[in-house]
Amino acid sequence: MTETAFLPQAPIELPERGQLACQSPSNIALVKYWGKHGDQLPCNTSISFTLSHCHTQTRLIFEKKKEAGFSVEVWLAGERTPDFEPKILQFFNRIGAYVPFVESYHFRVETENSFPHSSGIASSASGMSALALALVALEQKYGLAPLSEEVATRKASFLARLGSGSASRSLSGPVVVWGEHAQISGSSDLYGIPWPGKLHPVFENYGDTILIVDAGPKTVSSSAGHDLMHNHPFAAQRFEQAQQQADRLQTALEQGDVARFIEIVELEALTLHAIMMTSQPYYLLMRPATLQIIQAVWQFRRETGSRVCFTLDAGANVHLLYPSSERETVTSWIQQVLSVYCENGQYITDQLGSGAVITEPVRELPIAQ
Ligand code: PMV
Repeated sequence: MTETAFLPQAPIELPERGQLACQSPSNIALVKYWGKHGDQLPCNTSISFTLSHCHTQTRLIFEKKKEAGFSVEVWLAGERTPDFEPKILQFFNRIGAYVPFVESYHFRVETENSFPHSSGIASSASGMSALALALVALEQKYGLAPLSEEVATRKASFLARLGSGSASRSLSGPVVVWGEHAQISGSSDLYGIPWPGKLHPVFENYGDTILIVDAGPKTVSSSAGHDLMHNHPFAAQRFEQAQQQADRLQTALEQGDVARFIEIVELEALTLHAIMMTSQPYYLLMRPATLQIIQAVWQFRRETGSRVCFTLDAGANVHLLYPSSERETVTSWIQQVLSVYCENGQYITDQLGSGAVITEPVRELPIAQ
């Protein structure tokens, strides 16, 4: 499919005023996306686990307006948050051609995260995907030629990608691929797809506990980090390596080869941070506690035979991934040993999930006075 497949077939008329609500989860990349080109197109394939409890709930209230141009107000956890509005307006600008009705309405976006705002967990993936799904749901309801469910989810992923690359991987689950790969049929740079392989039962309900090492905002944004890949001396090798890692990961996921899974996932996490440490300018997002946790994971595996492993996002927090059969052991180990490395002892227990959903279908509202 190309971009043109997502252009609307006919003009859409929504009611004067209405609302709907969507919920979308966060996701954690196993093979990392780091480096982009053009309109948020990835330089390599990434593969992620969709999470379940870490999600954003978004209510979208729309009202017809006369003036041309995009118009939005953003409310986060009940408070107007003007700081977020430029980002949403930029998003509307990028997606305008694919959902032109957006220009004729004023949108009030009420959004709430299940995870604490100051937890260092990025809400862009869950937030952008929830909003993208809400817009596609409007188009599906009022458009003259509704898309099949599969294509509608793809369109939501396509729009979400234009807001934040990793958001394209939050629409479905439990494993999502974004970025074209010769060995993954249906994979595309334009949108994420559910990984087409057969997931081995050992990965069912796989656990992800997020250890909050640093609850503050990132010191270097993801966009600044992606930009540094343009002149990175190791960029070409990194992009090639990611393609190989994606292929190896497929085999591990299918065969239930947790040892190989661990090797791929930990190498990916450390490679992401090594790339940051060797960018120009170089920077470091890990903290001493991040390293202490990594060492503790290796020691715990050596001593107990556990199959817990770690991965990292673009920050200091650590995601611990483990089979569901180890949930209790890993949780009590976190409580007893690892929680001291967490800011205010904070961690979030999550597991694999199935992606974004419409939680309240569209309904019309009386016109505001
Ligand atoms: O979606 P962005 O632009 O915030 O980039 C996210 C990149 C990583 O989280 C570091 C890796 C990934 O694939 O999610």
